[in-house]
Amino acid sequence: MVSKKLGVVALGSALAFSLTACGGEGAGGSTQDTANADPSELTIGVAMPTQTSERWIADGASVEEGLEAAGYEVNLQYANDDIPTQQQQIDQMITQGADALVVAAIDGTALSGQLQAAADAGIPVISYDRLIRDSENVDFYVTFDNEEVGRQQATALLAGLGVLNRDGTPGQATGPFNVELFAGSLDDNNAHFFWGGAMEVLQPFIDNGTVVVKSGQTSIEQAATLRWQQETAQRRMEDLLTSTYSDGSRVDGVLSPYDGLSRGIITALQNAGYGSGSNPIPVVTGQDAEIASVKLIADGVQSSTIFKDTRNLAEQAITSTQAFLEGGEPEANDTETYDNGVKVVPAYLLPIETVYQDTIQQQLIDTGYYTAEEVASGQSAG
Ligand code: GAL
Repeated sequence: MVSKKLGVVALGSALAFSLTACGGEGAGGSTQDTANADPSELTIGVAMPTQTSERWIADGASVEEGLEAAGYEVNLQYANDDIPTQQQQIDQMITQGADALVVAAIDGTALSGQLQAAADAGIPVISYDRLIRDSENVDFYVTFDNEEVGRQQATALLAGLGVLNRDGTPGQATGPFNVELFAGSLDDNNAHFFWGGAMEVLQPFIDNGTVVVKSGQTSIEQAATLRWQQETAQRRMEDLLTSTYSDGSRVDGVLSPYDGLSRGIITALQNAGYGSGSNPIPVVTGQDAEIASVKLIADGVQSSTIFKDTRNLAEQAITSTQAFLEGGEPEANDTETYDNGVKVVPAYLLPIETVYQDTIQQQLIDTGYYTAEEVASGQSAG
């Protein structure tokens, strides 16, 4: 993926330049004297949740490359979605003398002990994409506008059904449409934001009968998918088809908060005969613009996804880390939304975009996120 790498290298040189420009000027902030250190003497621990999802592989690689390009040592770890493994990895980063931590939590509530140890050692902690909860020792949060993700997912679902236009204005269709709802992992703070944003848009249409959740499963607990697992979503969709749609009725749309879940849902639907002959595939949403799902969108199977440019998220993580290491504070653009149960964590939120079949070229190919060949094959060149 040459284009992605180039972006990070360019960013790296910009950081290297600004480091030279500001070297030695930092003060205060961290209790460690990192401000006067050469970046090559500093190690950043980067804890990522899993390698089963393409998005986290790309995130880890971008953060690592960017930090290395700025001269830092990097200790990047993946935890196979296993909470004790992630706790251990972070413990080890701290005992091995990490100077800053960038953490994408598996369970946002399970790292208080690690964060206390980091605080005691004067190590700044940046929460990456997923908010770490129940700890005062989260120094900064870099993420996307997660509530807006949910709103755009619901808007894309209703636009696919013709109830709304893509810009959210009323469309022609009046329904009623049968829709099923999926949510992410309840231990991931983001899952609640996606759900909240989506229900804000959907609820009025459920209330007026345009949208019918035929299974009756309308709470986030009923819709949740532990660890965001594709197989779990596939199984739940299969169960819903058996329990609710064996009477000849059909599913018209599925709210899915993440491409991995969408692929499981689509497999269940296809196995039940949707998407062939005169039985169209329902409108299925997604998130992350994973390459396998972008191909499904290009092929007219999945309806939409949310594009979160993780190159920009990595860049924010690097800039924030650097600010702390230089003894300063990163710049937040949101100091209200992300209460982690103990404090409101200053955050930098990045914008998001919905991608449809006819916007793949402009949003994902023209921007260098994927090549046309990757979209056609459904595989990342690496
Ligand atoms: C969320 C993240 C989503 C998606 C999901 C599953 O925390 O915000 O973009 O990646 O995890 O990995």
